[in-house]
Formats: sequence, structure tokens, C-alpha cells
Amino acid sequence: MKVGEFSTYAAYFVAEYAKEITQNYGYSIEKGLAIAEQDIKNDLPEGVATPNNYLLCIELYQGIKSELIGYLWYGLRDEGKTAFILDFYLLEQFQGQGHGKASLMALEQELAHSRIEQIKLRVAYHNKPALGLYEKTGFNITGYNMVKMLKNS
Ligand SMILES: CC(C)(COP(=O)(O)OP(=O)(O)OC[C@H]1O[C@@H](n2cnc3c(N)ncnc32)[C@H](O)[C@@H]1OP(=O)(O)O)[C@@H](O)C(=O)NCCC(=O)NCCS
Repeated sequence: MKVGEFSTYAAYFVAEYAKEITQNYGYSIEKGLAIAEQDIKNDLPEGVATPNNYLLCIELYQGIKSELIGYLWYGLRDEGKTAFILDFYLLEQFQGQGHGKASLMALEQELAHSRIEQIKLRVAYHNKPALGLYEKTGFNITGYNMVKMLKNS
């Protein structure tokens, strides 16, 4: 991702992430948006140049012409041995056509030349396309995230 592409990415991220946390935690959309805006500020304070974070644009090439079809953001964990996928998104009109699988395989190939030993991620239990994709591409389930909302949330 180039510096000039970050603001478009951030706007997409805040909208999508707010929607997700609103659904998952039952927050109001205002609260979801406030959390999403704060999270991206905290996690990517220097935008594309934030240390230990890699923001990628997924592009589809047809001949020499390329088109932006999605994003993948990963951060380094475990002293650089783990790539943790923090966001992975294909624009709606490009979903379900094999691009997700191709993107993960491309990432895996790229990381094969690094000192990163594993890829980790978190996925919502109801996200069937994502679960299907990760299962197909060799990820194993290592646990479940659980939450119980309290009245004062
Ligand atoms: C999740 C996502 C990245 C998957 O990418 P995609 O390009 O749509 O998926 P692909 O077409 O590459 O599908 C790969 C495999 O996933 C599985 N899959 C795809 N859609 C599925 C669905 N609706 N239900 C069950 N499995 C599905 C299939 O096993 C498929 O392999 P196959 O076609 O060989 O059978 C994409 O749909 C997306 O961006 N969704 C919205 C954002 C999101 O949920 N991101 C993941 C957050 S963890």
C-alpha cells in the first residue's frame, strides 16, 4: 500500500470493522464507529509506515492493467516469528471467485523467504466463507474466543 492509498483504506476499515463489532457485540453503530476509529489510530499510528505492520493492496492483473480488489493487513508477533492477519477483505464483487485463496497462497509464498514461521488469525464463528477458505488452505482451529456482555457495556 502506498502512503496516498492509506486514507481510502482507513475509511473502508472503520466502516467494515464498526459493522462487524456492532454485529458481534450488540453495540450501537455510533459506539462501533468510535471504537473502530480509535483502534486504527492506536494500531496504525504511523499509517503504512507503522513498524511491524504490513499493509497490502490486493490487485488483479489483466495484461498490464491492474485493479484494486481488496486489502490484507498483517502484523508481526512472537518476536517476528508469527504473521498475524489483522484484516483481510475482498471487495464484494470479487468475493467467491478464488481470489481469497490465491491471495493467501501468494502471501504464504512471500513469507516462505522470511523468518516468519506461522500465520495466525482470528475469525468470527458465523463467517462461513472465511472459515471455509481457511480450512481449505490448511489452517487449524486452535481455540474459541468467547464473550459475555455485561449490562454496563
Ligand atoms: C473471506 C474472503 C476473504 C474469502 O475470499 P473469497 O475470494 O471470497 O474466497 P475464495 O473464492 O477464494 O474461496 C476459497 C474457499 O473458501 C470456501 N468458501 C468460499 N465461500 C464460501 C461460502 N460462502 N461458504 C463456505 N465456504 C466458502 C470454499 O471452500 C472455497 O474453496 P472452493 O471454491 O475451492 O470450494 C472474502 O469472502 C471476503 O473478503 N469476505 C468479507 C471479509 C471477511 O470476512 N474477511 C475475513 C475476515 S477473517
